[in-house]
Amino acid sequence: MNNCILVTGGAGFIGSNFVLDWLARSQESVINLDKLSYAGNLENLASLQDDSRHIFVQGDIGDTALVERLLATRQPRAVVNFAAESHVDRSIHGPEAFVQNNIVGTFRLLESVRAYWAGLEDKTKSGFRFLHVSTDEVYGSLSKEEPAFTEHHPHEPNSPYSASKAASDHLVRAWHHTYGLPVLTTNCSNNYGPYHFPEKLIPLVIVNALAGKSLPVYGDGQQIRDWLYVSDHCSAIRRVLEAGRIGETYNVGGWNEQANLSIVQTICGLLDQLRPRADGQPYRNQIAFVADRPGHDRRYAIDARKIERELGWKPAETFESGIAKTVQWYLGHQEWVANVQSGAYRDWVRTQYGNAEAGNAASAS
Ligand code: NAD
Ligand code: DAU
Repeated sequence: MNNCILVTGGAGFIGSNFVLDWLARSQESVINLDKLSYAGNLENLASLQDDSRHIFVQGDIGDTALVERLLATRQPRAVVNFAAESHVDRSIHGPEAFVQNNIVGTFRLLESVRAYWAGLEDKTKSGFRFLHVSTDEVYGSLSKEEPAFTEHHPHEPNSPYSASKAASDHLVRAWHHTYGLPVLTTNCSNNYGPYHFPEKLIPLVIVNALAGKSLPVYGDGQQIRDWLYVSDHCSAIRRVLEAGRIGETYNVGGWNEQANLSIVQTICGLLDQLRPRADGQPYRNQIAFVADRPGHDRRYAIDARKIERELGWKPAETFESGIAKTVQWYLGHQEWVANVQSGAYRDWVRTQYGNAEAGNAASAS
């Protein structure tokens, strides 16, 4: 077996942070399979263009022939599955892509991986892992008084996105119980940090504020999320991959519940200090309350004691340190933002390399 792992969805927000973190800490290569939907951005991985340990393959986790070929030729010792449609609002407008990518895609990936794993020699077979990256949204919504989600909380998904992720979690679980596939699942809270696509609350607010646009807050802005800096999510996944018990799920969270309005106000305050408006007015003047998201979950909260107790993981960043780094990152990466907004990021490979295949990018065949 080669010294490599297969990462799916590694050109998206969390996946690209994971690949960058992984290669900063390990000599083990990464095969990065990503279909490059609107959310996939190879510019996130530009620093790896001369790094032979990163092999990018553009393709779909649901393309069985491609995935089987990749597994057979690269022989990864693990698969980490980030690939998914991830935005709740998009799932409300167009749920089919979520069913296709998140449910059917995960099903096909599981089948390809099962066939590969079944054919491994005993020693490599026992070391193999399939880690499925999931979300706290599968657990549904909490009232203010209820305790945080543990791993035993029933799945009660409320949006097409969370329903599709819950379905994929169930498939992963069943592939372990029925076929013995050595799976691990992580259910994480809201991430934020570098390379976050500016359709999501935190990057949207930073980008809109700087552009003088309104900062849309859904409903009363009192919905609560538990925010985790993305590199902490990456370290949790590495730790679960390393030492997680097969068949188990691990909740990952930041112990940082905040109402959306408070998040928006914190960002406004940081921008007031770091990049004051030309007219001297505070950025909070740009806040606009808009229509609520249909079916909007009121509160998510993660009880992350299991991963701390069993695997010794806890977040390294506080929200104060993480959000300050994040705002600074966006201020320092205005070109990345401009390329996303103009759509130029989709041509990045061609612009950078003059043809469709990037440095270490490989075509599937
Ligand atoms: P993202 O939308 O930024 O990136 C998803 C990536 O997956 C994109 O690069 C896209 O091109 C790729 N992709 C989508 N469908 C694919 C397919 N069928 N085949 C191959 N590639 C495909 O998402 P993200 O925020 O980085 O989330 C990554 C994973 O983590 C998702 O599974 C999501 O459910 C989960 N998650 C996200 C958060 C969060 O706060 N963003 C929190 C917990 C869990
Ligand atoms: O909890 C984990 C989940 O977090 C992940 O599984 C999802 O992939 C990820 O997108 C995220 O989902 P949310 O719906 O919580 O994230 P989003 O950034 O879209 O919204 C955060 C909160 O802010 C939510 O309550 C909706 C609200 N919101 C969002 C946007 C985009 C606004 O008030 N205004 C906005 O413009």
